[in-house]
Amino acid sequence: MSKKDIDWGNLGFGYIKTDKRYVANFKDGAWDEGTLTDDNMITITECAGVLQYAQTVFEGLKAYTTVDGRTVAFRPDLNAKRMADSAARLEMPVFPEERFIDAVKKVVAANVDYVPPYGSGATLYLRPFMFGSSAVIGVKPAQEYQFRLFATPVGPYFKGGAKPLTIRVSDFDRAAPHGTGHIKAGLNYAMSLHAIVTAHAEGYDENLYPDSATRTYVEETGGANIIFIKGNKLMTPKSHTILPSITRRSLEYVAEHYLGMEVEEADIPIAEIGQFDECGLCGTAAVISPVGKIVDHGKEICLPSGMTAMGPKTQKLYDTLTGIQMGTIEAPEGWIVEI
Ligand code: PLP
Ligand code: COI
Repeated sequence: MSKKDIDWGNLGFGYIKTDKRYVANFKDGAWDEGTLTDDNMITITECAGVLQYAQTVFEGLKAYTTVDGRTVAFRPDLNAKRMADSAARLEMPVFPEERFIDAVKKVVAANVDYVPPYGSGATLYLRPFMFGSSAVIGVKPAQEYQFRLFATPVGPYFKGGAKPLTIRVSDFDRAAPHGTGHIKAGLNYAMSLHAIVTAHAEGYDENLYPDSATRTYVEETGGANIIFIKGNKLMTPKSHTILPSITRRSLEYVAEHYLGMEVEEADIPIAEIGQFDECGLCGTAAVISPVGKIVDHGKEICLPSGMTAMGPKTQKLYDTLTGIQMGTIEAPEGWIVEI
């Protein structure tokens, strides 16, 4: 086996069909044994729950080549758990967490030639997802479901890599106070599409969503949590309506236990963003992408870290997290799963 002939350094964040994906079907109240398949096409009834009422949830995680040539995944247990929470909220059967991790291992092993080499700047993105596959016409959960997990090699999520982003405070809401913002449901992303298309058309990289109830506090962006740095403190929004980002939770641990920083989750008023030294977006796809400017309805809030490079504390967090993922820095127990 040898690595595929791909220009790893110039990959964007897109879909490339890889060799194998994992499929399991839920029918008559039970999951089948599941299998790897070459077939990337899905045939379902026109009346499937996913097509009519958006009954679908997904996850995102990555596999890496470490400095010493091992292939590893980062904290897949947390993705398995979050997917179980997402499924329960949409009245879908839970795909067992140990089977989720087994599917991750099988798909990465079957596509190991697509895992980008160490130092290439690319990674293998894994997309587990589940959807209602049987017919529903009255509003109710489907009886049958499919779990799938495919892999695609990716580069940076934001064009320009580590160049600081400009984001805007959105006029649209992402998550209702008692809605689905805390789970990874496809519907959360469908309703963000108009906001992201118009943001891009107006020259912004992403939308920063305020809390929907008061439109006063910072929540998160369309595809990543937000972090702020002030002095030696890492601050993140405390909210029940943001996605519990695995990257953000890992960074909070890294900040406290590796970098000796103070960590606080708190209500962060939009009006007070100007007090921070640095800001970044964090997620599996985004890793940590620095933010240089936040525009709140014409008012420009420019972070002191500027528009040319990551701020120094953000850089330390980035280097430590990616060092843990790529095996140059020792990982906390259980964070790295060898394939
Ligand atoms: N917030 C949203 C809305 C996301 O889509 C993602 C991506 O998964 C994240 C945050 C980051 O979560 P994680 O770090 O678990 O990838
Ligand atoms: C991820 O970071 O894995 C995500 O799912 C974000 C998505 C918007 C690409």
